Amino acid sequence: MSPFFKIKTYLNYWLDAVDEHSLHAPFLFDFYTNTIRRETGELFTVENLRKKLLKDNRTIEITDYGRGSTHIENNQRKISHIAEKSLTPAKYASLYHRIILARKPKTIIELGTSFGINTLYLAQNPGSTVYTFEGADSIADIAELSFEFAEASNIEVIRGNIDHTLYSTLTRIQKVDLAFMDANHRLEPTLRYFELLLTKTHHKSLIIADDIHDSPEMEQAWKQMKNHPLVYVSMDLFRCGIMLLDPSLNKQHVVLRF
Ligand SMILES: C[S@@+](CC[C@H](N)C(=O)[O-])C[C@H]1O[C@@H](n2cnc3c(N)ncnc32)[C@H](O)[C@@H]1O
Repeated sequence: MSPFFKIKTYLNYWLDAVDEHSLHAPFLFDFYTNTIRRETGELFTVENLRKKLLKDNRTIEITDYGRGSTHIENNQRKISHIAEKSLTPAKYASLYHRIILARKPKTIIELGTSFGINTLYLAQNPGSTVYTFEGADSIADIAELSFEFAEASNIEVIRGNIDHTLYSTLTRIQKVDLAFMDANHRLEPTLRYFELLLTKTHHKSLIIADDIHDSPEMEQAWKQMKNHPLVYVSMDLFRCGIMLLDPSLNKQHVVLRF
């Protein structure tokens, strides 16, 4: 994506972004001050794993099912390069961790595992299960090693193309409490996965979409998702968008400083 597009989209975000002083709805004020903006530390063990991946110069062969990152092009990739370009930064992974602790979702879906760093942040609610989806076997192998090392037993890795695996997995799950969408960054699959997820969500579910301003296609996907009749509150944090499906909340879209 052109640097001009990135600068333009960030500038638009920056001009629109507000903080707690502009939030009048009690729920939003509370969520922003106590969950989004609360300072919490990173997970030490997980960040150590990230450091190791960032230093790993081995090359792996990967099957590219979707544009997981704007920076990746061919099929032979260095682990360190994937770790640098594809993983959710600690600031955002810590935010998702805070959301998990605040809302205690039991069933979590992550579309796009990569090396599982973010998955480990999502898996911190004891008693929850994280179903995480990864198409590239060599990447999923590394993620599974990380889960073993971190002794995270509540993560199920679903290998294969999400185009085929999401529907079949959802048929054996009763409900989805939290979903994090970070796999195929194209318009049509993003909307298709979103609609599929909505067949198993409920009023208290929360959906997070990553890289919502990463490309014109993702901006379009975000626009359509946040305007979906089942989405009541949407929050734009630039890197990600958070959607709440609770009809007891007044419909609103906010752009938040983060
Ligand atoms: C941006 S990375 C995920 C990063 C991870 N969620 C995190 O926060 O650190 C996207 C991953 O999704 C996988 N992926 C993309 N499209 C896919 C598809 N259609 N089916 C399965 N995996 C897919 C890619 O192989 C890549 O590892």
